[in-house]
Amino acid sequence: MSDHQAAWRRLRAAGAAAAARPIASLFDAEPDRLEPLTLTACGLYLDLSKQPWSLKDLGLALDLARAAEVEVARDRLFAGAMVNPSEGRAALHMALRAPQGSAFFAQGEPVSAEVEASRAAMGAFAGAIRTGTRTGATGKPFKAVVHIGIGGSDFGPRLVWEALRAPVPKIELRFAANVDPAEITQALAGLEPAETLVVVVSKTFTTQETMANATIARAWLRDALGAGADSHLVAVSAAPDRAQAFGVRADQVFGFRDWVGGRYSIWSAVGLSCAIALGPEVFEALLSGGAAMDDHFRQAPLEANAPVLLALAHIFNRNAMDRPVRAVVPYAQRLRLLPNFLQQLEMESNGKQVRTDGQPVSQATAATVFGDAGANVQHAFFQLMHQGSDVIPADILAVARSADGHPESQTKLLANALAQAEALMVGRPESEVRRTLAQEGLSAGEIEILAPQKTFPGNRPTTFLLMETLNPETLGALIALYEHKTFVEGVIWGINSFDQWGVELGKTLAGRILADLEGEAPQAHDPSTLALIARLRS
Ligand code: F6P
Repeated sequence: MSDHQAAWRRLRAAGAAAAARPIASLFDAEPDRLEPLTLTACGLYLDLSKQPWSLKDLGLALDLARAAEVEVARDRLFAGAMVNPSEGRAALHMALRAPQGSAFFAQGEPVSAEVEASRAAMGAFAGAIRTGTRTGATGKPFKAVVHIGIGGSDFGPRLVWEALRAPVPKIELRFAANVDPAEITQALAGLEPAETLVVVVSKTFTTQETMANATIARAWLRDALGAGADSHLVAVSAAPDRAQAFGVRADQVFGFRDWVGGRYSIWSAVGLSCAIALGPEVFEALLSGGAAMDDHFRQAPLEANAPVLLALAHIFNRNAMDRPVRAVVPYAQRLRLLPNFLQQLEMESNGKQVRTDGQPVSQATAATVFGDAGANVQHAFFQLMHQGSDVIPADILAVARSADGHPESQTKLLANALAQAEALMVGRPESEVRRTLAQEGLSAGEIEILAPQKTFPGNRPTTFLLMETLNPETLGALIALYEHKTFVEGVIWGINSFDQWGVELGKTLAGRILADLEGEAPQAHDPSTLALIARLRS
């Protein structure tokens, strides 16, 4: 048996033992538990002590990371090696956020000079729009940006905008991702074309949803501005020729390279709309926060490495304790889109059953991620989190100091975040519930029925992530933390975290069915699909 297989076997055995042991009891058994299970990095405080692992189990998880050669894989990632072999690419999003003067190479090709040049061009363009030096076709300054893109060309920018936007922004930023006409209609509604910049973001510049929305927005601009529409249309793409063929002026096409994966692309010109609407200096600060997390990930030993420990906590739940679902609950309204962002980051990266070498994986991979903002979710799915038949580990995030005023509300929010994490772990034993009900004067029969319903089993794991403040730097660090966590998990599972073949089949079939809905006679399909096509054609 290889070291790697032996490490897996020991971790699974540890998981079986952990299932029979209350998490809370670990604090008595291990009085020094907090020290190795908490750490601070880049303005983020990470508490992994409410996870089901003992300190010995943590050691086993670290052994697994070593057996999987996480450090070697990390060094290959940063060296620009071909870590995405099925597409023949490096994955070098770290180069995009590196400080000036860095030297990154994608499969041997130097890339940092080009990165710095596009960062400068993007910053200059964003600054000129913001200050009004660059105006629209009629000479009016731009007051709104409509960002059109989907998937990785949407989730990151939307998250960053929601997290950092001013309550009354100088430049309004709207988004349209879905091909559902409702979204582009709402995005354009009420805007003045002469004061609106449309930014079409697509790595490939072929994505059906994005091209449909871009075509609608381009017509909206042309109807109002004629030839002047040109100066209102901007593109961001790794296929600049296609963007120009679509009618975007060459000097308004911002490029990036194919070694930037869609879901890792917020650091590239994909963030242009945010740089315009938040300010180029804010975008630069976001990049520096991401770069700080890169330094931490590269330099910290595995046992004090935030992305590594976060990944191992997930793997302990997912693989040692067979937990297929994970919740992410930011107690910060500004971070309410983080779960959506992580759904793509984690599930598109690691939702795979075949290894990089083409062989089937020998263990389960990415968990299903869901979540939304606390405290709202306490009035939605937290009943199930506390008393449901499945144990769902959660990442709970909070921001210590809010910049949005009303400190008394912020304190209430924090109290809720801490209370939920504690309640999920300690629960409420039936004996205590029975005592309380008896003191309230309920009969023995009534207690018999009610006590089990008011009991909280507890023993439900959480990771607590406390941000000092939510600012561009800490947000950048947070996003990079989850990116590297996802990478570490992929390495341990032996999968390629940077391709996404699983999205292709649906796209191909949608093309065929579109022809079926618009054409003469439908092609061959299963009976259910044929019946649906017939209904829609009638
Ligand atoms: O959802 C599939 C996907 O290929 C994602 O990986 C990507 O982020 C998204 O589509 C959008 O792709 P593009 O930026 O090329 O329009």
